[in-house]
Amino acid sequence: MRLWQQYLALIAAVLLPCAAMTAAASSPIVIAHRGASGYVPEHTLAAKAMAHAMGADYIEQDVVLTRDGIPIVLHDIHLESTTDVAARFPDRARQDGRFYAIDFTLAEIRTLRAHERTGADGNAAFPGRFPLGPGLLTVPTLAEEIDFISGLDRSRGRRTGLYIEFKAPNFHRREGHDIARRVLDVLVEKGYDQRRDQVFLQCFDDVTLRYLRDTLQTPLPLIQLIADNSWGEDSEVDYDFLQTAPGLDAVASYADGIGPWLMQIYRGKQADGSVELSNLVALAHERGLQVHPYTFRADQLPAGIGSFAELLDIFLHQAGVDGLFTDFPDLARDYLLQHPVNRTSP
Ligand code: G3P
Ligand code: CA
Repeated sequence: MRLWQQYLALIAAVLLPCAAMTAAASSPIVIAHRGASGYVPEHTLAAKAMAHAMGADYIEQDVVLTRDGIPIVLHDIHLESTTDVAARFPDRARQDGRFYAIDFTLAEIRTLRAHERTGADGNAAFPGRFPLGPGLLTVPTLAEEIDFISGLDRSRGRRTGLYIEFKAPNFHRREGHDIARRVLDVLVEKGYDQRRDQVFLQCFDDVTLRYLRDTLQTPLPLIQLIADNSWGEDSEVDYDFLQTAPGLDAVASYADGIGPWLMQIYRGKQADGSVELSNLVALAHERGLQVHPYTFRADQLPAGIGSFAELLDIFLHQAGVDGLFTDFPDLARDYLLQHPVNRTSP
């Protein structure tokens, strides 16, 4: 071998393994949506422990603030759908009849008991799930939940991610609170503010994500959630626009991925049974954006889908998403073990 050929072989020997590492295949991530909420009331520490035991890669925290500005893990800005607040504080509803977390101190919220989600009629939102009725479960603070997951990571020898959503940032601002800053303060306090491989931050509001990136200068990956315009999310952004090429160009300027509603990817089935998919995943991947759709529920399948495994197959093997939010992390983990997906990240 000539000298120049030896040099080339040496360079290839050094560089090729690096290239292989850069393009290392990875499995889509399983995100436990509000914990293992298909089995245990959402956002309780019990639901988070179960998700951890089921092998979720990330566990989701929806966050709102208390009157004293403490981030708590709760999906709604209201308390009555998932706690016994109406029984404990019957005269604390606003004129619209709702009990707002922002009107209660943390000390008051600690007295509440959490239960399975109820609908507007007071009945269980998911009738086959955990029985209704206040028990021993409570509403954790974000700090408490991070300590809890960190403790489980230590005792179980794992490294589980946090997937934190800022709920209703404009509502909080009108109430005099900066929820983005309060959450980052907790991440700093807990030593998670630089863990790019272990924390995602998500929000339906584009302005809040830009604020996190440009003003608060977080290095953590940001996910732009995409709703349907009809849902009345707490944002001025046009979600139809965000699903277009120019809309995703804009998203790519401040975020690392998108979190679309699963029906924005799965459009249904043709008469011959073939699956119809939108081009949203391809458009996002072309711009280097990860795609983590929500919400995969074994007890609430989209029309035309015969089983949870079929739903997972469509998204993981046909649409090619990079992760998914599910109330049933055990089923998604089992599916991926039996039907592995390995792809390079965008
Ligand atoms: O954050 C992803 C997904 O959880 C968004 O929907 O309403 O369950 O927070 P929601
Ligand atoms: Ca959420």
